[in-house]
Amino acid sequence: MKTWRVQILYFLVLNAAVQYVTSLENELSDSIFDDFLDPLKDLFHHKDDSNETVAKFSLRKPSHPDDDLCYIIPGKPESLAACTFNSTSKTFLVIHGWTLSGMFESWMTELVEALYDREQTANVIVVDWLASAQNHYVFAAQKTKAVGQEIARFIDWLEETTNMPLENIHLIGYSLGAHVAGFAGNHATNKVGRITGLDPAGPDFEGEHAHKRLSPDDAYFVDVLHTFTRGSLGLSIGIQQPVGHVDIYPNGGSFQPGCNLRGALEKIANFGLFAITDAVKCEHERSVHLFIDSLLNKEEAAKAYRCGSNDMFNRGMCLGCRKSRCNTVGYDISKVRKARNVQMYTKTRASMPFRVYHYQLKIHFSSKVTRSEMEPSLTVSLYGTKAEAENLELKLKEKISTNKTHSFLLVTEKDIGELLMLKFKWEETNGWSTSSMLKMVSSWWSGDSDSANMEVHKIRIRAGETQKKMVFCVRDPDAQSLTQEVTFVKCKDLWRTNQKRVILKDH
Ligand SMILES: *[C@@H]1O[C@H](CO)[C@@H](O)[C@H](O)[C@H]1NC(C)=O
Ligand SMILES: *[C@@H]1O[C@H](CO)[C@@H](O)[C@H](O)[C@H]1NC(C)=O
Ligand SMILES: *[C@@H]1O[C@H](CO)[C@@H](O)[C@H](O)[C@H]1NC(C)=O
Repeated sequence: MKTWRVQILYFLVLNAAVQYVTSLENELSDSIFDDFLDPLKDLFHHKDDSNETVAKFSLRKPSHPDDDLCYIIPGKPESLAACTFNSTSKTFLVIHGWTLSGMFESWMTELVEALYDREQTANVIVVDWLASAQNHYVFAAQKTKAVGQEIARFIDWLEETTNMPLENIHLIGYSLGAHVAGFAGNHATNKVGRITGLDPAGPDFEGEHAHKRLSPDDAYFVDVLHTFTRGSLGLSIGIQQPVGHVDIYPNGGSFQPGCNLRGALEKIANFGLFAITDAVKCEHERSVHLFIDSLLNKEEAAKAYRCGSNDMFNRGMCLGCRKSRCNTVGYDISKVRKARNVQMYTKTRASMPFRVYHYQLKIHFSSKVTRSEMEPSLTVSLYGTKAEAENLELKLKEKISTNKTHSFLLVTEKDIGELLMLKFKWEETNGWSTSSMLKMVSSWWSGDSDSANMEVHKIRIRAGETQKKMVFCVRDPDAQSLTQEVTFVKCKDLWRTNQKRVILKDH
């Protein structure tokens, strides 16, 4: 492609990305992006009608995870022996996505290393379709089918030549590469064991028919991680719709901790458009690092939970594990083949290991008189047998109303062990006059005269990772100072008994 074209494309894409982020910040309508790719289509629409080889298959070695030293050439069985292909082992085909640089990104080596770390005798084959992938996005997207078909022929040939069971083949595709894997699986004569889609690309695939994108039909088991699905339908860098048997949306599939789009905006102000790529890449590529994490940190596997919506998940309402409602994120996921398009959610840390511990807190706020809805700031500290996690914000998803049980999701980065005690703090935020706040504070929790007081007697907790359910009661119902934290300790579930009779345990 001519240099000026590449430059125009680069400008358009970056420009669109900036608009995209700006809109996130301003919460403007999404409509301005709808035309994002159209000018590109007009500028560059052309078909590639040669049928030259579009993919190369490099069998990497554990000793040289970053070097392409040996290519397996379909039709040449001797290349299998030359590359010491082990036909009784698992075979991974790693498929990259769109690229501006025309080179493998640095995650490729990390992923190859992680795969060999977990499966020492495996064949880790890097599929190189860089020549097509470094075109502009629309053209590269059009190429995914042809590349997938070529991989399918490679798989057919491997099966015929080595008699290896296709159950042993696992395709791992990132971004556009996820759809390439889908086409490969779909066009292979027999079904491959598994396809993992790492933030499959959205533009040109969202809403498409199952045969024109990655779908559960493409392998016996298709699992997908969605990490950057912000934007209007049809224009999100990562595809929003579920496209596998199990689709996991870490952090709701949008902003990933540690990626900092807001920071990127500030950088743009200082350093121009090029700063944006880092943030976008960080969110999109997080899918790869979550998968690498699952390979390297088997003992610290993250859990994801099936949920009807991200909003319900954020209220802590989906931490159950019965009937395969929860699963392991990444490599060790359980293959629940009966289901398809199961949407699961998880929260993560900002860096490896990404796993966090999820808790549901159910808190009943009671009062003798109806109070107007409130938006306090709620803070919780957890004390466990192994560690403590202090001053965690309980995120309100709705206003607090009288005599209602509210459910919250709380996460800790470290394993606190078994939960023994918790402290709870209510602070009024804006919207209250000083006098009403003082009244509120002085009456809050006091068991006496002021009829306006709001009370919390117990907090019910479910721990996602251990599936334990616990009830915590106010430790000292008589000595309340509402300007301070209130301590809760484990109690038997005596919902109907007078709370004053609850034993005051020392922790
Ligand atoms: C493309 O492949 C087909 C069938 O494999 C062949 O008949 C045709 O000549 C090829 N075209 C080119 C341009 O190589
Ligand atoms: C091939 O892989 C199998 C296990 O999958 C292993 O037992 C065997 O030692 C490997 N062969 C070679 C030559 O590495
Ligand atoms: C809330 O529930 C308590 C106990 O059931 C009851 O005494 C109180 O009147 C209720 N408050 C309102 C405002 O309905």
